[in-house]
Amino acid sequence: MAPTGKPTLAVVGATGAVGAVMLQILSQRADIWGEIRLIASPRSAGRKLAVRGEEVEVVALTEDAFDGVDIAMFDVPDEVSAEWAPIAAARGAVVVDNSGAFRMDPDVPLVVPEVNPHAVRTRPRGIVANPNCTTLSMIVALGALHAEFGLRDLVVSSYQAVSGAGRAGVDTLRAQLSLVAGTELGTKPGDVRRAVGDDTGPFPEPVALNVVPWAGSLREDGWSSEEMKVRDESRKILGLPALPVAVTCVRVPVITTHSLTVHARFQGEVTVDGAREILATAPGVVLCDDPAAGEFPTPADVVGTDPTWVGRVRRALDDPTALELFVCGDNLRKGAALNTAQIAELVAAELMGGTSARA
Ligand SMILES: NC(=O)c1ccc[n+]([C@@H]2O[C@H](COP(=O)([O-])OP(=O)(O)OC[C@H]3O[C@@H](n4cnc5c(N)ncnc54)[C@H](OP(=O)(O)O)[C@@H]3O)[C@@H](O)[C@H]2O)c1
Repeated sequence: MAPTGKPTLAVVGATGAVGAVMLQILSQRADIWGEIRLIASPRSAGRKLAVRGEEVEVVALTEDAFDGVDIAMFDVPDEVSAEWAPIAAARGAVVVDNSGAFRMDPDVPLVVPEVNPHAVRTRPRGIVANPNCTTLSMIVALGALHAEFGLRDLVVSSYQAVSGAGRAGVDTLRAQLSLVAGTELGTKPGDVRRAVGDDTGPFPEPVALNVVPWAGSLREDGWSSEEMKVRDESRKILGLPALPVAVTCVRVPVITTHSLTVHARFQGEVTVDGAREILATAPGVVLCDDPAAGEFPTPADVVGTDPTWVGRVRRALDDPTALELFVCGDNLRKGAALNTAQIAELVAAELMGGTSARA
C-alpha cells in the first residue's frame, strides 16, 4: 500500500474498448485510489489518456510495471491475461480479470457484487474473474429473482452489440453502415454482402442491416463458445452447478448494450406482481415495463447507463412457474468495466481493512 494509505491500481489494457470505459468509470465513481497506472502493449507505450481529469502516460506491459501495485484490473485478450495475470499476482497484486482465461478455474471466484459478493474473499490464486458481458447483462436481475423464487431452468436468447467484439467490432459495423446508408440495399439475396465486401471483421457475416446467429468460436455439437459461457458462468455465479440452461447467441447491428429474452422457470408458482416488486427494489436493476405506454428498455436508451434494465415481465402462458423477461445492459459498463470496478472496490475495502488477501 502506498504511503497515502490508498491502494495503487493498475489498468492493464487501458487503450481498449473496455479499458476506455474503465477510465470513464474510474473518473466518475468515488475516488478510493492512490496512483492509477495505465498499462497496454508496447504499441501504446507513451500515449497519454485521461483519468480522474489528469493525463496519464501509458506504460508497456512488463513485470516491473506491477511494482507497488495492490490491485490490477486486466482488460486484455484471453492469452495475454493467461500469461500475465499470474505474474502480476506473484508480484503481490490482486488481479481482477475481465478475460475468459480464468472464469471456470475452480480456484478463481467469478463475482457479481450484487449476487455473490462473499465469493471475492476466497481467491487462492490471487485472481478474481469478471463474468462475460452476456452473462452479466442478465445475471443481476436473475439473481434477485432466484433469491426469492429458486431458479429451476433457464432459456435465453441474446441480441448482442458489436462492441462485445472490442474496437474491431465497432469499427466493422460503422464501416459497413457507411457503405449501406442511403441505398436500397437489403431487398435482394446477397446485396448487402456484395456491398460490404468479403472482409466482415470479427463477424462471420455482414452485421449491418442483418442479424447473425453466432458469437464466439465453434464448440462441440454446434454450440458457440459464447453460449457455453452463458451456461457455465450462470451456474457458477448462482451456485447451481446442474442448472439446465439453453442459450442462443445472436449479433445485431447495435453499437453497445446487449439485450436478452429470458424464459426462467422457478421452484413454485410465480406472479407478475411478485416479480415486479422484486425487480423494482433489487439493487442494480431498473424496472421499465409499461407496454401500454410504449415503455420497455431498448439499447438506444440503456447505453451509457449502469443498471440492468428489465421490461416485458410476463408469466408464461402455459406454465405458472415461469416468467418471460426482456433485459438490457450496457455490455461495456455493467457487462465489463463497471463490474470489474465494483469487484476491485470490494477487494480494496478488504485490503484497507487489513484482512488477509488469500484464503
Ligand atoms: N467488449 C466487451 O463487451 C467485453 C465485455 C466483457 C469482457 N471483455 C473482455 O475484456 C478483454 C478486453 O476486451 P476489449 O473489447 O476491450 O478488447 P480490445 O478493444 O481489443 O482491447 C484490447 C486491449 O488489450 C491490449 N493488449 C492486446 N495485446 C496485448 C499485449 N500483448 N500486451 C499488453 N496489452 C495488450 C490492447 O493494447 P493496445 O491498444 O496497445 O494494442 C488493448 O488495450 C477481453 O478479454 C474481452 O473478452 C470484453
